[in-house]
Amino acid sequence: MNFPLAHRVSGFGLTIFSEMSRLAAEHGAVNLGQGFPDFDGPEPAKDAASAAIRAGQNQYAPTTGTPALRQAIARHARRFYGQDLDPEAEITVTSGATEAMLAAFLGLLNPGDEVVMFEPYFDSYVPHCAMVGAIPRLVPLRPQAKADGAIEWVFDPDELAAAFNARTRLCLLNTPHNPTGKVFSEAELRLIAELCQRWDVLALSDEVYEHLVYPGARHTRLAALPGMAERTLTVGSSGKIFNFTGWKIGWAIGPAALSLGVRRAHQYITFCSATPLQGAVAAALDLDDEYYQALAADYTGKRDYLTGVLRAAGLRVSVPQGTYFCMADFSPLGFDGDDVDFCRWLTTAIGVAAIPASAMYAEAAKPLARHWARFAFCKRPETLAAAAERLQRLRR
Ligand SMILES: Cc1ncc(COP(=O)(O)O)c(C=O)c1O
Repeated sequence: MNFPLAHRVSGFGLTIFSEMSRLAAEHGAVNLGQGFPDFDGPEPAKDAASAAIRAGQNQYAPTTGTPALRQAIARHARRFYGQDLDPEAEITVTSGATEAMLAAFLGLLNPGDEVVMFEPYFDSYVPHCAMVGAIPRLVPLRPQAKADGAIEWVFDPDELAAAFNARTRLCLLNTPHNPTGKVFSEAELRLIAELCQRWDVLALSDEVYEHLVYPGARHTRLAALPGMAERTLTVGSSGKIFNFTGWKIGWAIGPAALSLGVRRAHQYITFCSATPLQGAVAAALDLDDEYYQALAADYTGKRDYLTGVLRAAGLRVSVPQGTYFCMADFSPLGFDGDDVDFCRWLTTAIGVAAIPASAMYAEAAKPLARHWARFAFCKRPETLAAAAERLQRLRR
């Protein structure tokens, strides 16, 4: 029988991430496409998760999250950003950052509301708009070579300002930014904050890579800028801070009035997130500063290794300031085809999977990404070494 899909999902199709992972598996390629680590997070958190299961913490949690986890999220925000949050009213635990963002959209947007966001974008943002009937207003980030050849991803301030209007309800930011690795500077964030205030717009700041920031860059929390605390929801994820992407424990933090919107929707999406994992994430958030420093240092090493390998293979590399993704321009290789062709060929002929960057731009801006591919470096040294060996063949 053939039942038509609902209009809200009928245009979605299979994501390019699934397609590239399937192709990678079929061809035995090293998968640097989808962004999940091939190693585990901290042992104390795993111990806390199994202890919680054995201790019988296996029933529904309170819908807003266990008190222990909400308090740990508040301590984390105080430790790293000097933020003072009320765990009762201003913190909501969700099933990953993705659910936090969907709940915010469902709880705070009406059909026809406009959402300003940058492209390329994380793949759920535009479908989330479609699911609530909101309209994305996309502002492109463009690669720009500096005098020393280093590549920066920049937006045109006039283009950003022109995206705001009386129908704008929300500005969706992602810093550190997937896929470009850009960490928005304080000056850029001030410009965004000024526009949000001028147009009386809410901000949703996806900061899941807050701890994956490399030497020379500094992560600024949008909510920490003057006038922004009262209008900003910040989204975080244990998947990215602790390399447990499969646990899907995330959170939204922000003023009571905005948290209420998240909570009203969240209670009818999942009601609550996995109870024993919430306890384990609470324990993990309280790990000492050395954990967080070692996390960034370890990823700095992986970043330096992969960017070196890609450069040696003949690609023009954009060195990320944050996240575990690296964008590379393959035009110096003289490949005849676009980024989708290149990534399919790289997977099937060279044996390394990457994601075509155009998948993360809307139709009108796809030409900007024609020669760019995204590589993930959240992988064990031996996985990266296996990819390196194969990528050498590009030179030949
Ligand atoms: C920018 C960004 N936001 C959100 C997520 C999803 O986070 P979670 O797994 O906690 O839903 C990802 C995952 O790759 C991401 O890159």
